[in-house]
Amino acid sequence: MFEGKTILITGGAGSFGQKFVELVLKECDPKSVRVYDNRELAEVEMERKFKDERLRYFIGDVRDRKRLDRAMDGVDIVVHAAALKHVPICEYNPIEAIKTNIDGAINVVDSAINNGVEKVINISTDKAVQPVNLYGATKMVAEKIFVQGNSYTGLNRKTIFSCSRYGNVVGSSGSVVPLFKEQKVKGEITITDENMTRFWITLEDGVRFVMSCIDRMKGGEIFVPKIPSMKIADLAMAIAPEASKKIIGIRPGEKLHEVLLTAEESRHTKELGDCYIVEPEFAFWNDENHKEGKLLAADFIYSSENNTCWLDHNQFKNN
Ligand SMILES: NC(=O)c1ccc[n+]([C@@H]2O[C@H](COP(=O)([O-])OP(=O)(O)OC[C@H]3O[C@@H](n4cnc5c(N)ncnc54)[C@H](OP(=O)(O)O)[C@@H]3O)[C@@H](O)[C@H]2O)c1
Repeated sequence: MFEGKTILITGGAGSFGQKFVELVLKECDPKSVRVYDNRELAEVEMERKFKDERLRYFIGDVRDRKRLDRAMDGVDIVVHAAALKHVPICEYNPIEAIKTNIDGAINVVDSAINNGVEKVINISTDKAVQPVNLYGATKMVAEKIFVQGNSYTGLNRKTIFSCSRYGNVVGSSGSVVPLFKEQKVKGEITITDENMTRFWITLEDGVRFVMSCIDRMKGGEIFVPKIPSMKIADLAMAIAPEASKKIIGIRPGEKLHEVLLTAEESRHTKELGDCYIVEPEFAFWNDENHKEGKLLAADFIYSSENNTCWLDHNQFKNN
């Protein structure tokens, strides 16, 4: 699927981007991979780390449409991972969050259509579902821009757009895992709420899932992997069993449990192998797509609380 292709990844110097680059170069034989990111130092460090002549480094901001146009020239596949992703930062800097996460998504869609890119996938999050904070709200809008991007392409449908949506990535930059590891050294871990649950996925599994979505996408789907839940308190136990626990209370803009599929979405969602596929309800969609999938019960809700698959602290350590 990636063989001989030119791939561009926005946010390519971030946690997801670097793992994607590593796997795609090692396993997929692309013609070239363009790393598009606004972090100069991170790109310099990547260049030293990867030493691969198929890699190209573009300093660029997804807010900058002209730069994206230039970078997407001759590209076959775009993976859109650039985002502001920290809930408190997005709350405090709402216009910046909107510029990167929403205007950036619009620019990626427009530029991909104008450059005749074949496939474009957006990396989304459970926080985009029934959002309670601006980060989630901007990612929800980005999902809608991507799904509806398929209407903007016109009848020729050269460019198709889809999303993959999943939960917390274990150990990604700025996540709770590095925080707990830091706190472990001091002997005290802060937990917001003992009952809090989250969906978890490893970085590698997240990247492999997105790669598989690119392979099977028809344009317009939101792909949701089946992934386990874990209590934040169990995660703390797995990382620092000896440390004392301090309960600090749920923070503004946080949910006790996350949702990956709502009942409303389930009415047009199919279960297929390792994932759920939310199908678009628009004219561009062909009902024959993913016909081997099984429609979900109309009231099905996939939340980190009602999940049937759980990790305890021992399983987490072995993952
Ligand atoms: N990590 C998770 O738990 C998780 C879960 C579900 C979905 N996701 C989604 O997955 C994607 C990748 O996440 P990640 O964990 O890899 O995040 P990350 O490590 O922060 O990577 C994102 C990269 O994009 C860059 N970036 C930010 N704003 C940009 C802009 N305006 N133009 C160009 N580049 C920009 C970031 O630079 P700076 O560091 O300078 O901002 C960073 O290098 C995001 O879309 C996120 O919403 C993440």
